[in-house]
Amino acid sequence: MLRKENIPSLAIWETPFYYYNLDLLDRTLTACRQGLDRYGYSAHFALKANAEPRILERICQAGFGADCVSGNEVALAVRSGFAPDQIVFAGVGKSDREINIALEAGIFSFNCESIPEIEVIGALAAAQGKTARIALRINPDVDAHTHHYISTGKKENKFGISPWMFEQALTVIRNTPSVELIGLHFHVGSQITDLSVFATLCKRVNEIQQWFVDRGVKLPHLNLGGGLGINYKHPTEDPIPNFEGWFEQVYRHLTPLPGQQIHFEPGRSLVGQCGHLISRVLYIKEGLEKRFLILDAGMNDLIRPALYQAHHRIENLSASNRTDWNPDAETLRYEVVGPVCESSDLWAPEVDLPISQRGDLVALHSSGAYGQVMGMRYNQRDLAPAHYSDELA
Ligand code: LLP
Repeated sequence: MLRKENIPSLAIWETPFYYYNLDLLDRTLTACRQGLDRYGYSAHFALKANAEPRILERICQAGFGADCVSGNEVALAVRSGFAPDQIVFAGVGKSDREINIALEAGIFSFNCESIPEIEVIGALAAAQGKTARIALRINPDVDAHTHHYISTGKKENKFGISPWMFEQALTVIRNTPSVELIGLHFHVGSQITDLSVFATLCKRVNEIQQWFVDRGVKLPHLNLGGGLGINYKHPTEDPIPNFEGWFEQVYRHLTPLPGQQIHFEPGRSLVGQCGHLISRVLYIKEGLEKRFLILDAGMNDLIRPALYQAHHRIENLSASNRTDWNPDAETLRYEVVGPVCESSDLWAPEVDLPISQRGDLVALHSSGAYGQVMGMRYNQRDLAPAHYSDELA
C-alpha cells in the first residue's frame, strides 16, 4: 500500500498529515459498485466518514449518492456535485435550519428518527409549499456485536423509531399531507465484521415490513444503512472489504417487496483503508519499565484509539526502509504515544517495531474513515492536512 519507493516523496511534506492512496480508493469503489450492480442495489456514501473534497469528488463520480447527518453535510454534498435526489438525511436531532436546508435542496429522503421530528418536517415543508419524502428510521433491536459507542440498533440506543411507536407514526403521517412516506431505514452499527449480523437484521426487516404491508402501507424504498467493517489488524493483506459477502447476505436473507429499491450507506468500508496518518518520531524516551516512542501526531489528529480503544496498525516506514524491509530485522518494544497533554493520547501500549530514531516517518494505517474528519484543535494544535498519491514525485 505504502510502497518503499514512495517514502522519500512522503518525507518532503510536513508531518502530521493524511495520505490518501487514490488508486486503492478507486479499486474499492469499483469493487463496491460491482457488488451493488450485481443485485441492482444502490448506495449513498456516509459523508461523516470522510468529507475531503477530492475524496467526495471521486465517490460522486463513481455513481454513489450521499448519506448526510447534518445540514452542513447536506450543503457540502450538494456543493460536491451529488444529485439532490440521491441525498438522504438521518440524525436524531435535525434542527429547523437543517431541515430547511434539505427541503430547499430537494433531497431524496429524510430518514426520520422520531414522531415529533415527522411533525416538524411536515410543518416546515408545508411552509415552503413542498412535500417532504420521508423514510422511517427503525430501531430493530438488533445487536451489531461491535464497540458499544458505535452500536446504534439496540432498543436502549437513542436512534430510530421502535415498534411500539409505529401505529402512532402512521397516524401522524396520514394526517400530514406535506410528508410522503417512501420507505424504511435501518442502520444497526459500524465496524461490523461478523456478517451474520446482516442476516439477523434482514430477518428482522422482513417481519417489520410485513407489519406495514398488513396495514396497506406502500414502501417503494428500503435502506439498510452502512456498517461493513474493515481489517484494521492486517490492512495490507486485506485492503478491500468484503462487499460481495455483505450484499450476498442481504440477497439471501431479505425478502424485498415487489419492485422495491434496496439502498445502502457505506462509509468506513469505502474510505478506511485508502487513508494513512503519517507522522514522525519526535523523541524516544527510555522509561524505567517502558520505552516511549513519542510521535508528532496525536489524539486530536485521529481520536479513534482514545475514544473507542481502536487499533490502528503502526509501521515505522523509515526503519523498514533502512532494514530493506527485512522482516527479521531486530525489533524493540515501544509504547507509542502522541504529544497531547492527556494520558489517553496513546497509540498503542505495546508494539514491537524496528529500532526507531528521531525523525523516522511512522504510518498509522487504516485512517481514511473517521480520521481527518474527526480531527480537532485541542491544545491549539493545527489540523493535519491531506496529501494524495497523485502528488507524489
Ligand atoms: N448510516 C448511518 C445512519 C450512520 O449513522 C452511519 C455511521 C453510517 C451510515 C456509516 O456507517 P459505516 O459504513 O461507516 O460503518 N466514529 C466511529 C464510527 C461512527 C459511525 C456512525 N454512523 C468510528 O470511528 O469507528
